[in-house]
Amino acid sequence: MSKTIIISNRLPLQISLENDDLKVSPSVGGLATGLKSFHRDGDSIWIGWTGLTEEEIPEHLKEDVKEKAKEEACISVNLNQEELDGFYYGFSNRTIWPLFHYFMEFTEADKEHWETYKRVNQKYADIILEHYEDGDHIWVHDYQLLLVPNMIREQQPDAIIGFFNHIPFPSYEVFRTLPWREEVLKGMLGADLIGFHTYDYERHFLSSVSRILRHQVDFNEVALPDRIVKVDSFPMGIDYNKFESAALNHFENTAEEQSELQRRLDHHLEATPDAKLILSIDRLDYTKGIANRLRAFEYFLDNSPRYIEKIRLVMLAVPSRSNVPQYQRLKREIDELVGRINGKFSTVSWTPIWYFYRSMPFENLIDLYTSCDIALLTPIRDGMNLVAKEYVATRTNHTGVLILSEMAGAAQEMNEALIINPNNFDQIAGAIEQAINMPEEEQMQRMKMLQKRLKRYSVEKWAQDFMKTLRNTKANRDSFKSIRINSEVSETLMEEYSKANRRVLFLDYDGTLVNFTDKPEHASPDEELKEMIKTLHNQEGTDVVLISGRDKDTLGDWWKETKVELISEHGVWMRKSDKDWHLAENVRSDWMGAVRPVIENFVDRTPGTFIEEKNYSLAWHFRKADPELGEIRANELSNVLKELISNHGLSVLEGNKVLEIKSSGVNKGKASNKKLVDTQYDFIFAIGDDWTDEYMFRELPEEAYTVKVGIKKTSARFYVEDTKRVREILQKFIENG
Ligand code: ADP
Ligand code: G6P
Repeated sequence: MSKTIIISNRLPLQISLENDDLKVSPSVGGLATGLKSFHRDGDSIWIGWTGLTEEEIPEHLKEDVKEKAKEEACISVNLNQEELDGFYYGFSNRTIWPLFHYFMEFTEADKEHWETYKRVNQKYADIILEHYEDGDHIWVHDYQLLLVPNMIREQQPDAIIGFFNHIPFPSYEVFRTLPWREEVLKGMLGADLIGFHTYDYERHFLSSVSRILRHQVDFNEVALPDRIVKVDSFPMGIDYNKFESAALNHFENTAEEQSELQRRLDHHLEATPDAKLILSIDRLDYTKGIANRLRAFEYFLDNSPRYIEKIRLVMLAVPSRSNVPQYQRLKREIDELVGRINGKFSTVSWTPIWYFYRSMPFENLIDLYTSCDIALLTPIRDGMNLVAKEYVATRTNHTGVLILSEMAGAAQEMNEALIINPNNFDQIAGAIEQAINMPEEEQMQRMKMLQKRLKRYSVEKWAQDFMKTLRNTKANRDSFKSIRINSEVSETLMEEYSKANRRVLFLDYDGTLVNFTDKPEHASPDEELKEMIKTLHNQEGTDVVLISGRDKDTLGDWWKETKVELISEHGVWMRKSDKDWHLAENVRSDWMGAVRPVIENFVDRTPGTFIEEKNYSLAWHFRKADPELGEIRANELSNVLKELISNHGLSVLEGNKVLEIKSSGVNKGKASNKKLVDTQYDFIFAIGDDWTDEYMFRELPEEAYTVKVGIKKTSARFYVEDTKRVREILQKFIENG
């Protein structure tokens, strides 16, 4: 039976050494805590790092580490100190993490770190491949493993691979500063499905793919030469039932069963029944806005001294990535701030901040969540923020107020929280005041709405949705209507070819016989192509027709030595072999004067675009324009033109990064069919890459071999990936003729 292979840098279990013995504890962080229940309930294995370096594990405990991981269906990846320094503390947390969270001033570009990152990603990929069996679903997680999807794809081209990014994906303007931006995008695009927490992160990613790699992006699909990659947003939820029932059980605890922390909290609540507790929980990370929060709290007390002795901030900061200098600096800053604020406001019976710098067991988290009236979460940037969701899930009596930064992914689904900008102290102070004074009825109203949503979109649902979409991408791949010309299909094709007496080959030019270039005039045929076409043209029983949207002069000039048959401007002109050009359609050009200025206006406003004037048509090319702007302007121009030319017997053709205005009723389908009237062919072959070739694919007889170049929706019966494959087929025609 097929299984799911989950891969993340860190396993959900953390192994540490205590008195020469192994201690297992749960990992902290949204990814590990969130995915744990999916792993527990399904048929999956989880590959990742245990938290110990190879050097730290004594020889006699090496097997035990593996065993401990195995007990929880996990496979441990061993990282040595050098790998950890370059890969984890280095590239992951000193380059990608700050960059993706918009902390450009903290972002380092260290080539050695990058090299180690690549090496360690390959290590993960190799371990996955060791455990991979046909039919398995591979689910790679997070920014530490951006290159893994493509590393697997290279070895297992048919594997079903999903990737989920748990942190923000920054805007193109920020992402483009990364020296290894192409490699990173290519690595991610090895997946069939790429998931983000929010639509904004998805949009940023697609924009970078389109601008940096220049792949065609259609809505949320990226068209690669040989595959389509789907990109979507799936906001991660929490194991709602776990938190809800933990909270319910918590209230059942007898005095003896209560934790020490709970006793202290209760003591505080009894001593000051009308005082409020404000909670914050995060890993100690500069993205979490902890310093801002403290300053805003100080600002609040400065401006509203009536709350002195009436509120207390309970702040839990969990140690994280403490080998990275920014985190060490932050630790010092927070210690100082807490000290200063406590020193400034404390009274004999009251300190404004209770600060815990440590990890706490799950039951203590529940103590804090259930005892605090307000949660104050103020990240500067946060992919999601599960703490916000956990707080809500534990409020089983529906009271409590959540104050949440708009910079957290979670804010998009948690409208009923008090949403604040973490840099606006006035707003934060206002929200604290509002939360303290919020009537219980309003608290309950807001809380119930939040709970309803979180309960429905739990982490199970999130994982199921992702996996379902992943399976569908696979099903789409399988049901892709046209058939790839692989070696088997190619064999049949060649048999038919050599058997036939009269053959005709309709060959589109740009994007089919040659690759696209920045300027149309740069795409003249190379020697290899000229030779191939000449040989085919001279082959007995074979008629070669180059059928193109290009103007007759350019085509005629390129093919003046080889007098192959030419159809230009989609069928306006024809040049039979060894003859001169003749007009094949009754077309006019007197409309051009009126249309040209309209297009010129778009050229002026859209850098990188230009007009190509043909005898009977005008084409506006936007291949070199900014991809997004190009698409927007193309859409705009198409609408303007359609209005302008209505009732003039003209139409607008939308080709590959080009719009073309020409007489209606002229198309490659009509043109190619004319050729079939006089001659009885027993082998018809038509190949092309763009929308204008679809006319041929639809209108040629059913038995024709119609072939699309590239993976796009098509009426063609077959497809090949790229121009290289096209030439391979032509070569085989030469050999089999
Ligand atoms: P991040 O993923 O950036 O760390 P999140 O808020 O999304 O931030 O996730 C933090 C997760 O870590 C939550 O699931 C939370 O319950 C867990 N967590 C936070 N503090 C502790 C702690 N002291 N002990 C155990 N788990 C913790
Ligand atoms: C965030 C990241 C996770 C990471 C976690 C804890 O949630 O998205 O990938 O595991 O923080 O960080 P750490 O560096 O301790 O694994």
